[in-house]
Amino acid sequence: MKTYQEMMAGPAIFQLGIPAAESMPEKLFARARSSNLLKTGSFSSLVYPDPRGEIDLRREIAGYLSISRNLHCFPEQIFITSGYSSGLGLALRVLGLDGRKVWMEEPGFFLTRKGLELAHLNIVPVPVDAEGLNVDYGIENAGDAALAVLTPGQQAPLGTTLSLRRRLQLLEWATSTGAWIIEDDYLSELQLEGRPAPALASLDEGKRVIHIGSFSKTVSPGLRLGFVVVPPELAAAFSEVAGTLAPAPSPVIQLATARFMHDGHYVQRVRRLKRLYSAQSNALCEQLRMRDTEWVKAGLAVLLRLPDGAPDVQIVREAKTIGMAPSPLSAWFATPSWALSGLLLGVATAPQSQVVKSCRQLFEIIDRYC
Ligand SMILES: Cc1ncc(COP(=O)(O)O)c(C=O)c1O
Repeated sequence: MKTYQEMMAGPAIFQLGIPAAESMPEKLFARARSSNLLKTGSFSSLVYPDPRGEIDLRREIAGYLSISRNLHCFPEQIFITSGYSSGLGLALRVLGLDGRKVWMEEPGFFLTRKGLELAHLNIVPVPVDAEGLNVDYGIENAGDAALAVLTPGQQAPLGTTLSLRRRLQLLEWATSTGAWIIEDDYLSELQLEGRPAPALASLDEGKRVIHIGSFSKTVSPGLRLGFVVVPPELAAAFSEVAGTLAPAPSPVIQLATARFMHDGHYVQRVRRLKRLYSAQSNALCEQLRMRDTEWVKAGLAVLLRLPDGAPDVQIVREAKTIGMAPSPLSAWFATPSWALSGLLLGVATAPQSQVVKSCRQLFEIIDRYC
């Protein structure tokens, strides 16, 4: 099996899941290196830090979420983690649902699938369409599931937003059956088309939704920083697990991030990334429009559909030999008979200066296979 690093390695042209190379958050990293940080604020290097995370950062996140995701919560509901993956691990450990059924988006994020398998959950793939996760399908085929994990803001990888009708239906199902929902809000408000929908957790009044956020896309995956917002009812159980098995990461990077947010740099950065990625996405789409091909914008990617059965994995393998790393759509499916063929072209790693040449090279490869 490939390691995490191999799967997420980069940067290469069209690589998904990593920010643009020219957008390093220098101010944040410089602040983290500064020893002054350790002498200020609530931080003392001689005592064990709060395993839930630094209060300064949890306050900043609570303020940010209420404005940007319409999600109103108290810092006591927030747990700082090493990104989405460790937030998912923390949540699964708290919920302790071994052997129970879980709805998982199909297609969906391979690390979520692996994480659910490692937690001994029984995965039920639920198809995704233009309205997001097909809740009717989930209820009909596994209404007794104990958990649903999904990306309602911008579905990974198709980019669709879960409709309001489906959000309400999902919450009603969870409330009536006692199921939990994990909302993977990995892109937060980093949406290139239209206004981002509010977080699913904002509709839930703190009952069934565990909201997981990450700084990997909005700042950098190298930070390894994310957070979980939990229903008040679960706060004590999360504190217990965080305090024993999954404490928050180093306070140094947390405090640097808190200051970065407090001083307004985070909001500015997200705006700047949106402008940069929109320009890159438009430049890529302009190239695709010139070709006789079917494509659609999909979150921070453009999905290039290939004829059914086309060998997208092989095409990607060949593209990698010349520095391009689109993602094969078929690899995001767990059910082979449902798999569609296509290439997900990440826009963050497709600088305008290289897009003409890269598209030409990519289509030369595609033309050899399709
Ligand atoms: C669907 C999805 N969720 C979450 C993440 C972020 O994970 P992490 O915060 O662990 O870097 C990614 C990154 O690619 C992703 O694609």
